[in-house]
Amino acid sequence: MEALDDENINMIGICGMGGVGKTTIVEEVCRQAKAEKKFDKDVMVVVSQTPNLAKIQGKIAQELNLVLETKDKLETPQSLWVRIKAEKKILVVLDDIWDKVELIEKVSIPVEEDHKGCKILLTSRRKNVYNKMNAEKIFSIEVLDEEEAWILFRGTAGEIVASTDLNPITREVAREYGGLPIAIVTVGRALMKNRSKDVWIDAA
Ligand SMILES: Nc1ncnc2c1ncn2[C@@H]1O[C@H](COP(=O)(O)OP(=O)(O)O)[C@@H](O)[C@H]1O
Ligand SMILES: [Mg+2]
Repeated sequence: MEALDDENINMIGICGMGGVGKTTIVEEVCRQAKAEKKFDKDVMVVVSQTPNLAKIQGKIAQELNLVLETKDKLETPQSLWVRIKAEKKILVVLDDIWDKVELIEKVSIPVEEDHKGCKILLTSRRKNVYNKMNAEKIFSIEVLDEEEAWILFRGTAGEIVASTDLNPITREVAREYGGLPIAIVTVGRALMKNRSKDVWIDAA
């Protein structure tokens, strides 16, 4: 959150392996930024491994209530540029990028000298894309340690974990998944539904 306040930082990158919680974090950052009224506007768009430029522009335009000339396409990227510039302070989140995104040239997002009030927040599995994009600040998200993993697992699976004879087995299960939130949450939810001990001995 501090990096968002720093006027010398235009672009922030969050990196970490798939399922570690990058999307969850940027959603939380947006929520907090909104609560603290850090920006006049924030937009978030998923880029993915196979980016569709028209869709990305269309989504940003839509979130900015920019009238789209055709159904979900923006005919003139310049209108997006102008619209973003009209927001004094704006946060643009591009989730799950795999390669360099040409913000200025292709997407038509004014940054740095073109618009000091526009902050870009990126997430990616690949740290090296941030060098290519000249992000000023990079945060690496690591997997959870054993205790954090256990807390998340317990929180997802519910009290069943603590209150039955499954406890030692489920602890083992939580450990098994290497502290990766997506795995822990998935297994935790499954446990909530399936209370048979035998199944969980298998999972451990
Ligand atoms: N800190 C967390 N607390 C609870 N659940 C989390 C946390 N981080 C991630 N998750 C869960 O893990 C899963 C994967 O997270 P996600 O943010 O989609 O990862 P990524 O974007 O890095 O692939 C989601 O189901 C999410 O709800
Ligand atoms: Mg994600």
